[in-house]
Amino acid sequence: MSKVLKYGMVGGGPGALIGDAHRRSINLDGKAQLVAGCFSRTYEKTLQMGKELGIDEDRLYENFEEMARKEAEREDGIDFVCIVTPNNSHYDACKAFLEAGIHVSCDKPLTTTLEDALELERLAKEKDLLFLVTYTYSGHVTAKNIREMIAAGEIGEVRTVMGEYPQGWLAEEDVTGNKQAEWRIDPNLSGKTNSLGDLGTHIENTVYQMTGLKVKRVLSKMEKIVPNRKLDDNSVVLVEYDNGASGVYWTSQIAIGHDNGLRIRIYGSKGAISWFQEEPEKIFLSKLDGSNLEIHRGHGCIYEKAARYQRLPSGHSEGWFEAMSNLYSSFIDCLVAKAEGTFDESMIDYPTIVDGIDGVKFIEACLASQEKGNVWVDM
Ligand SMILES: NC(=O)c1ccc[n+]([C@@H]2O[C@H](COP(=O)([O-])OP(=O)(O)OC[C@H]3O[C@@H](n4cnc5c(N)ncnc54)[C@H](O)[C@@H]3O)[C@@H](O)[C@H]2O)c1
Repeated sequence: MSKVLKYGMVGGGPGALIGDAHRRSINLDGKAQLVAGCFSRTYEKTLQMGKELGIDEDRLYENFEEMARKEAEREDGIDFVCIVTPNNSHYDACKAFLEAGIHVSCDKPLTTTLEDALELERLAKEKDLLFLVTYTYSGHVTAKNIREMIAAGEIGEVRTVMGEYPQGWLAEEDVTGNKQAEWRIDPNLSGKTNSLGDLGTHIENTVYQMTGLKVKRVLSKMEKIVPNRKLDDNSVVLVEYDNGASGVYWTSQIAIGHDNGLRIRIYGSKGAISWFQEEPEKIFLSKLDGSNLEIHRGHGCIYEKAARYQRLPSGHSEGWFEAMSNLYSSFIDCLVAKAEGTFDESMIDYPTIVDGIDGVKFIEACLASQEKGNVWVDM
């Protein structure tokens, strides 16, 4: 295997959001090159996108089944695939590539049912393939540094967590013409949830990556506030973690004034940490003695395990693209090591299929809590 890997993409056609972001993020480090794609369900759009990206026409496919089969047959076939389609097609697309023996990166939420998520895990294990789930925010250097700070005991034992992810972009009923909005509010494409699956899984995973705490049980109130919405657009979830600590998560798409307001506040027995993804270069640390510290990425106070992902000195902003690149950087290093026979699981520093499954379990537990009349439900 060459050290510059070859990858393919499913989804990410003209005007798509996250596929473009994946491509740009992978390009940052030059560790993999895009050589194949099925960017849309419409072949003309795949051809158009492929031409823009300079991909040979014989590697542009009409559907992902054909792509998985033909790429697996090629001597120079792709080393991994990125699945960046709406939620409803993640399972079938991931399955096709796993069955063909190709490593997978898939965006969140992993699948629309737990059964499907567990089947993908079984397949990945059977085929001995690596699986990245792109929970972007856990890739920030500062998010990784919070993980190190908490593991080192800087805030003591975690007692309670506040996680919020408010957006205001779906506050109006009519979303006609907004491609990303149209599928998110449609149960056939989005699955059984909207805001909770789209945003709540980010909170669930970011908190887990930072604290190491797994959610034990949840009590949710999932609301459909905008008239004629079929799926939740505002949700509040009470959470209990495996160490007995509590949490409150809020996700919203009707919170006018907010863009991508993922904010995590973690309170421990010796201190507290606050982090806001729209200002991802900073961590706020409060201590019992009343002191407050603003920690900036790029300085010597960042732990080595986080600092190794930095590309720029302090004050030269790094952000969302870099966070996504950091996930791919570790994933691709692991793929290269696997091919060279030097891989071991301790090298993994990205969210895996287990994180993807936890996200789906979180969604299903919240749905069950809502259906049963807002009661506690075990994960
Ligand atoms: N990690 C993050 O921070 C983040 C951010 C946004 C979206 N997402 C996730 O990424 C996924 C895509 O979201 P988006 O906002 O980019 O959607 P989008 O509508 O912008 O793009 C989806 C693309 O997939 C293509 N597509 C649909 N079905 C296909 C199929 N069967 N075969 C090939 N192409 C197909 C569409 O033509 C489109 O180009 C969703 O699962 C979403 O939850 C993750």
